[in-house]
Amino acid sequence: MKFKTVEWMDGKIRILDQTLLPLEEKYLELETPGEVGRAIKEMKVRGAPLIGIVAAYGVALAWMKKLDVERAMEELRKTRPTAYNLFYALDRMKKAYEEGKDLVEEALSIHKEDEEICRKIGEYGFSLLSGDEITGMTICNAGALATGGMGTALAPFYVAKEKGKKVRVFVPETRPFLQGARLTAWELSRNGIEVYLVSDGAKAHILRTEKVDIVITGADRIAMNGDAANKIGTLGLAVCANEFGVPFYIAAPHTTFDPGIKSGDEIPIEERSHDEVFYCGGTRIAPEGIGARNPVFDVTPEKYIHGFITDAGIIKKPYDKNIPSLIMPLLRGRG
Ligand code: MRU
Repeated sequence: MKFKTVEWMDGKIRILDQTLLPLEEKYLELETPGEVGRAIKEMKVRGAPLIGIVAAYGVALAWMKKLDVERAMEELRKTRPTAYNLFYALDRMKKAYEEGKDLVEEALSIHKEDEEICRKIGEYGFSLLSGDEITGMTICNAGALATGGMGTALAPFYVAKEKGKKVRVFVPETRPFLQGARLTAWELSRNGIEVYLVSDGAKAHILRTEKVDIVITGADRIAMNGDAANKIGTLGLAVCANEFGVPFYIAAPHTTFDPGIKSGDEIPIEERSHDEVFYCGGTRIAPEGIGARNPVFDVTPEKYIHGFITDAGIIKKPYDKNIPSLIMPLLRGRG
């Protein structure tokens, strides 16, 4: 990867400020758990695995600086509600704290493991791609900017590129936060992959009229029956992909599967400020005096998902049987 999304710098966390991309590539140093919490809330860092990694480093900062570790964990838990990786990482840091372990080492392990997980997801996902020319579609950003490694949904495309395939990816802009336009388009093009940015409204048309081989998205939380929460717009993309016969896959590490949640109805969906929909690029685009809703995730029912590309391999249906049997051993093995 041609950039570093997050780095532990012995008592500081260096992050790439994702709110400024693609216009500015600016790195920030976070020195307290409070600064870490604000960076997550304000989405300077975002993407489920990355949120977990940065939160773990935030706890490590509190521990190293002899601050109140339990309070830091409590505050960090309140930053974003949907990404399960946040709770996975904080539960793991809590356990390590209770066992008297070195919390910097634990956070570094969470980061390192995620990097390895991304590579595995890339290799497993690549096994689904055939031919020398691959056309994919994704949504939001589930790439290197969202993880500790080469990403989840984008990892198969990076592996395909490494193996000499010609890869092109359709990227919907992903209103309101524009992760597709600002982040995915930036990181794919920086890493030499051909990108076609499309408006959110163009997704169905592209799937109907272009030869798209596969749609791969990330996830923020996956229930044990296979229902999966991801960025708002994913549900529509999945329905359209099914309608037009394009396989729809979700790529996610085992740390995104929530063993405590049976179906998607139980997944908490984050709602953010209405200003995110009233404004675009700092300019108001709607009249005053109207209402708005801004749910930033949706749940795709398992019936629309062809399979999960995970670090435990490709998980196929029936999900209510295969997800627990493949994921639970990994969740029990660590943390
Ligand atoms: O609101 P965001 O930008 O944090 O949402 C990110 C996504 O929806 C990603 O697809 C998901 O977190 C997976 S990242 C590997």
